[in-house]
This record gives sequence, structure tokens and C-alpha cells, in this order.
Amino acid sequence: MRTRLMAWLGCVAMLSCAGAAQARFDIVPEPQRVSAGRGAFLLTRTTRITAPADRRAQWIAGFLRGAVRDQTGIALTIAAHAGHSRIELRIDPSIKGDEAYRLDVTPERVTLAAADDRGLFWGVQTLRQLLPLDARERAVIPSVHIEDAPRYPWRGVMLDTARHFYPVDFIKRQIDLAAYYKFDVFHWHLTDDQGWRIQINRYPKLTGVGAWRTEADGSRYGGFYTQAQIRDVVDYARQRNIMVVPEIEMPGHTSAAIAAYPELSCSGKQIKVPTTWGVFRDVDCVGKDSTFRFLENVLDEVTALFPSPYLHIGGDEVPEGVWADCAPCQTLARENGLQGEAALHGFFVRRIQQFLTGKGKTLIGWDEIMEGGMDPGAIVEVWRGPQEAAKALANGNRIIVAGPFYMDTPIDDMTLEDLYRTDPFDNPLFAKYPGKVLGGEAPLWSERADPMNADARLYPRLFAVAEHFWGSPSSDYAAFLERARAQEAWLGMQHVAYGPEDKDIVDARVSFNPTYRRWRIRAARGFDDLRLHYTLDSSPPTTQSPAFGDVLDLYAPATVTLAPFRGDVQYQASQVFKMVSNLALGKPVTYATPPAVPYSGALTDGILGSQYNDGTWAGWEGADMDATIDMDQPTPLHSVDARFLQNVQAWILLPRSVSFETSDDGKSWTTLQTIPLTVDPNDMRPFVRDVTFMPATPVTARYVRIVTARYGEPVGGIQTWIFSDEIIVK
Ligand code: ACM
Ligand code: ZN
Repeated sequence: MRTRLMAWLGCVAMLSCAGAAQARFDIVPEPQRVSAGRGAFLLTRTTRITAPADRRAQWIAGFLRGAVRDQTGIALTIAAHAGHSRIELRIDPSIKGDEAYRLDVTPERVTLAAADDRGLFWGVQTLRQLLPLDARERAVIPSVHIEDAPRYPWRGVMLDTARHFYPVDFIKRQIDLAAYYKFDVFHWHLTDDQGWRIQINRYPKLTGVGAWRTEADGSRYGGFYTQAQIRDVVDYARQRNIMVVPEIEMPGHTSAAIAAYPELSCSGKQIKVPTTWGVFRDVDCVGKDSTFRFLENVLDEVTALFPSPYLHIGGDEVPEGVWADCAPCQTLARENGLQGEAALHGFFVRRIQQFLTGKGKTLIGWDEIMEGGMDPGAIVEVWRGPQEAAKALANGNRIIVAGPFYMDTPIDDMTLEDLYRTDPFDNPLFAKYPGKVLGGEAPLWSERADPMNADARLYPRLFAVAEHFWGSPSSDYAAFLERARAQEAWLGMQHVAYGPEDKDIVDARVSFNPTYRRWRIRAARGFDDLRLHYTLDSSPPTTQSPAFGDVLDLYAPATVTLAPFRGDVQYQASQVFKMVSNLALGKPVTYATPPAVPYSGALTDGILGSQYNDGTWAGWEGADMDATIDMDQPTPLHSVDARFLQNVQAWILLPRSVSFETSDDGKSWTTLQTIPLTVDPNDMRPFVRDVTFMPATPVTARYVRIVTARYGEPVGGIQTWIFSDEIIVK
């Protein structure tokens, strides 16, 4: 950067610069037309900003002044009259197109002209991207002529604040970043099963109860936004050309609201705010008029907070079948001639839509809102694929395309290049419905995203998304990549933990080598300079903790807590690996039925698991675990402990019973104890159960055998699994 800057200073001094045409303009999203000029503009303390006198233009001029000062340290003056050196902002009605702008940088001045104040703000964002990163006292901006306008008016980013809670400061920072890349919609997913995040004065329990959940380990998790905070965010976003569209999920994904007000559901049963992910059967009862009164009262307060003419009601993933067993729902269906539960869903959506229309708001919903018959005035957010877009367009609806842009997708599975090369707007059908495709949204669902790892899921991938929404990606991925990579220095200065282009941040696995009795943690890293800092005392790692890159070897059992850092920025929450010593460590195990691939983790590797897919579990589908450990020689056994996982969402259940057997020859067996367990297939929380055989006096044997009796019955029509990670012999 320094050499580039010096080269430019040289150019200015000589007032002629043959190299100017070679300047690279690393602007994301790429403007429609960019042509390099000759020479450069020298921005110094004497440069003045002039702008139209209206409040909005003056605010934009102030925003530019602040951005220049933050990035270069140069404090410009906003003046009514231009001086010798100037940046001139103007509205120019001859520029055609909403949000369009034209930016001219010449050695004499910078002129930013726009069709409207929105275009003016986007032009300022482009100008910011032209500023050098390391300027002090003077900043050189290469001469350039840019003409630009967006491809689509709706360029959204969605943040799910229900599964994980994101503080206001985090949201404002994301709004700053999104605006820098010319997104103009922040879709705020405010309610879901796992949390209700918006204060509603009339129903205080929505946040008093619905904003908090008790996790499997007993800790409380949650939070919500007060109405004052929401007004503040909406205003902050509006100043930055971003419209905030709230989403209040209904009639499904409403467990948190039902936990607060059980009368909303068909059964009226008291439930807890769930701590697991998925689709839940506690949904709003369509058959009770009180449900609509409640929702309308909520929407009264929501619509008053958000000036946006749109309101998103979710409407996705509704297990409509629950309404079949509800008398009021069935009565409503009969009275209105509604055939089947999907028709009840349609009735619900249309009734809410009518209410919103009365308040001057247009309803948006996920593409399931089409299933029960839909009014063409609604906007459909398409997530399940182009066939849903086709249905909505055929019905006369406007659409927003979200499906291919799910930012929660692991980076491994959706790389920067995948996103860049996949253009869902390149669809011949869309051309047949001019004006109906509003644009797109990139949703970040937050089951696996939290304030610490969200940056890396969003950036750099949102660069590719911005090119789709604002521009129209060319086939030149290499050129895009140069522009994208040029953003990293700026993002780094904003302390954004931007992620890798094509790998997950870190994938750490542990294995045991029985010959050398050595545990090895091996980490695949998204960046070569990512370091894994770790502690052995369960404290959170810091940059002062010891670190490794690819591998960490341990010759004694330990609990390793590790966290990935680049420089002083932590990229995701810490992860714990537990290794334990015991008499069975490294001893050979034989099975009556071998565990299923890929769930064939070793039972005597001393490694304790946590998640079912962390590589440490042995699993049997539709079969029992029958495992025999050869202890090499007759061994006094003080205790034998077998560990089992329950994770109903992955169809993994505890066994009904566990038998402990021993043998001296591996042929004739003595059953020492059969321990029965209570299995609750409705307990959705993942947990690990230790099942321990502990004789009054030690039993001596060479072979130890553990046999389970599995739950046996399918859950939701699906055969269940037995999962065990370890047998611990002491
Ligand atoms: C969705 O992903 N359920 C809209
Ligand atoms: Zn009902």
C-alpha cells in the first residue's frame, strides 16, 4: 500500500501520469461503468465539501466528513461555497434511475451527482472505497469516472436474533458494513421458537418469559430489544439508506410466545421456551378469535415502531396437521368451507394480511404462505427453490429471492466462488415478469451463528451476494476475487473477523494412538495464520494462552479448551476436548454388530464426546451395542462406566437397559448387573448419560462385555440409534 501511495504522490507532483489508466478500482459491488482518468485528486485539510442545503444532503455530507476523518485523520470542512479544492455533492435530475449516481474524480475536484439522495449516499460509499487506507495529512484519490445504479431495489440481509441474541451494537455495526456494500434492507427476524426479542407493552410476558430459555446445563440464555432500542436502530439504519423490515413469525415458530401465553395454542398447554432447533408442534390456534386479537394487538405496536411499509409474518414450516385435532380450528374450517389444514393456513394469512392492509402495510411471508391460496398483493420470500418463485410469479405476486443465499451454510459447503458463480436471477422466467422480482436477501439463521462467529459467515461471502443484488456478476471470478480481497484490509481495520473464502474457520478433531498412548488434536484451519490458543484448566483461552497451528499432542489425559484467533480477534467460541485415562484405554474392542460408518468412534480411546457428529461416537441403527473389551489379563474391576447419548432430533435414544457381563475366556459369560433406564423420546434436549456398574467388592475378569437393549420403536416413523463414546474401566 505504501508503495502504491508513493507512486501516486509522484504522479501528482509531476502532474502527468501515464500509469493512471492502470489504476485498479477495488469497489464492491462493482459499479456499472468505471473508467480511469489521468492524474489524481489530492485530498488535504483545505479540501471542502459542498452539498445541497437540505437536511438529508447535509447529513450525507457530514457522514462523508466523518468517514474521511476516521480513515485518513483528515478533518474536512463542510462549506456553503466551494474553495479551490473541493468535493461537490449535488442532485442532478438528468441522471436517470432510482439510486443512480455519477462520480467524477479529477485532479481539480471530486463531483458526486445523483438522481436522488439515496444515490448520493451510495456514491459516498463508493468514494469511501476509493480512499487509501494508510493516508495521513493527505490522501490521493485516482482520477476516475463512475456511473452506477442498482440491478434490484431490494438488497437485503436478514439476521435471526431469536436462536442467538445479538446486542444493539453488533446490529449497528452490521448495518454500517451492509451500507458500505450498498445493501438497503435489514430484515430483522425478531421472534421464533427459541426467543421473543421485541418488547410489547401490552403483553409483558412475551419478553418476561418468552425472551429467556433454560439451556440443558441449567444456564439462562436470552435477551430482547426495548422499543427505545428498536427506534434507535431503525433510525440509525434509515440514515444509512437501510430500511428495517421486522419479522414476527406466525402461526408457526411461535413456541416462545406460547410459553408466555399458552392460550395462543390449540391445546392451551403450558410449554417451556425450547432450547433445541427444529420445527415444533406448538403453533397459534387459527380457530380462536382471541388468537387474532392477540396478534393484532402485537402488530399494532410493531407497526408503530417500524416506518417500513412492509411487515414480514414468517409463515414458514407450519405443522398444519395439529389443527386437524382442534375443535375450534375444525369449526372454523367448516364454517368457511376450508378443505384441509393448508386452507386454514391460507385463511390465517389472508386475515392477517387484511389487518395489515388496513394499517397501510404490505405483508411479506416465506414461500409456504402460498400453500393455502394467496392474495397477489402479498410479497413472497422464496427460500425453497425456483419452483416456488415460479408459483408466486404465476399467481401475480412480487418476490424476494433468498434460497441460495443462506449465510448460515458452512463455508465448506457454500464458498465465495460458489456464491459468485450461482446467479438465481439469471432465470428466463424472471424476464417475463418485469418489476415482480424485487431483489434478494441473504439470511443468517443463527442456530450455529452467534455474535462471535457471525462476521466470518457474512464476510467475504456477502461481497458475492452484493454483486448479485446490486450488479450482475460477470464471469470473471478472478477479477472479483481481487476486488474482494482488497476489502480485507479495510474490514480488518474495522475489527471484522472476516472469514475464509472456501473453508470453515476451524475443524478440530481428536484421535488416540494406542501404541504411543498419545492423543492428537488435529485442526483444519480456514486461514494459515489462524492460531489455536488453549488452556488446560477450563478457563477461556486468550492470546496469552499457549497456541498451536495444525496439531497438538498430549501424552497425559487433559481437558483442552481451545479457541481460534487471528491476531487478537477471536473467531468463534471455545471448544472443549475431554480425554480421560482408565484401565481400558487402548484395549481392543470387538462387536457383535460393528458400529455404522461414519459413527464408528472408538470406545476405548479415552475421548469423551459432546455432539453426535464430533467423530467420537460409535453408533448402531436398528441394532444393539454388544461390545467386548479384552483387558489382556485378569483385571480387578472396581467400576465399569458406559456412556450413552440421547439426541432425539438425530433419532438417537438412550437404551432401555444396559447389561454388564464378564468372562475369563471370552466364551462363557456372567451377567453382573442389568441396569434399566427410563427413556423419554419426547425429551428433545441432547444429553449424555453415564451408566455405571460398581460392585461392592472388585470383580476380577479378563473380558468385559456391555450389551444394550435398545428403545426399539421407531420415533416419528424412523428407526432409532444407540450412541456410545466410551467405556471407562477403573
Ligand atoms: C426458512 O428457512 N425456514 C424460511
Ligand atoms: Zn386450534
